[in-house]
Amino acid sequence: MNVQMTDRVQRSFSRSFRTYHDAACQQARIAERLAQDLHKSGAPRQFVSGLEFGCGTGLLTQRLCAQFAFDQLTINDLSPEAQETAYDFGADFLCGDAGTIAWPVRPDLIVSASMIQWLPDPAAFLRRAAIALAPGGWLAVSGFGPGQYRELMHVGSAAKAPGLCRAEEMVAAVSDHLDVVSFGEDERQMRFSTPRKVLDHLRKTGVNGRAQKPWTKSNLLAFSKDYSQRFGDAHGVSLTYHPTWLIARKPCAV
Ligand SMILES: C[S@@+](CC[C@H](N)C(=O)[O-])C[C@H]1O[C@@H](n2cnc3c(N)ncnc32)[C@H](O)[C@@H]1O
Repeated sequence: MNVQMTDRVQRSFSRSFRTYHDAACQQARIAERLAQDLHKSGAPRQFVSGLEFGCGTGLLTQRLCAQFAFDQLTINDLSPEAQETAYDFGADFLCGDAGTIAWPVRPDLIVSASMIQWLPDPAAFLRRAAIALAPGGWLAVSGFGPGQYRELMHVGSAAKAPGLCRAEEMVAAVSDHLDVVSFGEDERQMRFSTPRKVLDHLRKTGVNGRAQKPWTKSNLLAFSKDYSQRFGDAHGVSLTYHPTWLIARKPCAV
């Protein structure tokens, strides 16, 4: 990710740190599913060294710590505020860009929920994770596919994350190194009473609906009108979430 983009993403998530946890209902559902799928896939209850990327306020960390035990857990985020999450869960905190920082060696679990879409090359990140895993280690990652926030793209928002990718692309990125246990994708539409409420939801969850350009009274009015005409009905307007996920395991050394 270029430095400008990284800074913008970091500032946006830092600003939303206090509102994210309660507003991110879709991300909470995704984190729950990832932890459950990992458990149902036969992952061990105890890991020697767990590594989570983009932990944020701990929606996934919380579910992982409820299902699994760790001799050592390291959690990462671009936003320094996430140090609080590490403190809450007794984890080590690794602050920085997941795409470029040095990682702990040979983790036997690598996880990440709703973060890889912010990387310019999520496939490279997944390959790096696959190679970094200890033999017998597990990978559980979710991102978002091209349908994510489809409505915003149609009304000309520049808020699109750079690394939207389909589940098949996630599979292709790791399949030279890992056995894929399960993968999938899903589309859900949230409903809001007005387009302003959509923007409010995005702001609270760390996404800037306008990206670089500031809102003015007239462009906000034009945005609201266009959004309502295209995606509105008597009950309000829609916003699409398109989560994608993958669970995979590294073969044990022979
Ligand atoms: C949508 S939140 C997801 C947080 C948490 N994993 C969850 O499931 O709720 C995305 C998180 O990824 C972090 N993030 C974005 N880009 C990142 C990067 N390049 N490296 C590390 N963390 C990043 C953000 O700061 C934010 O906390």
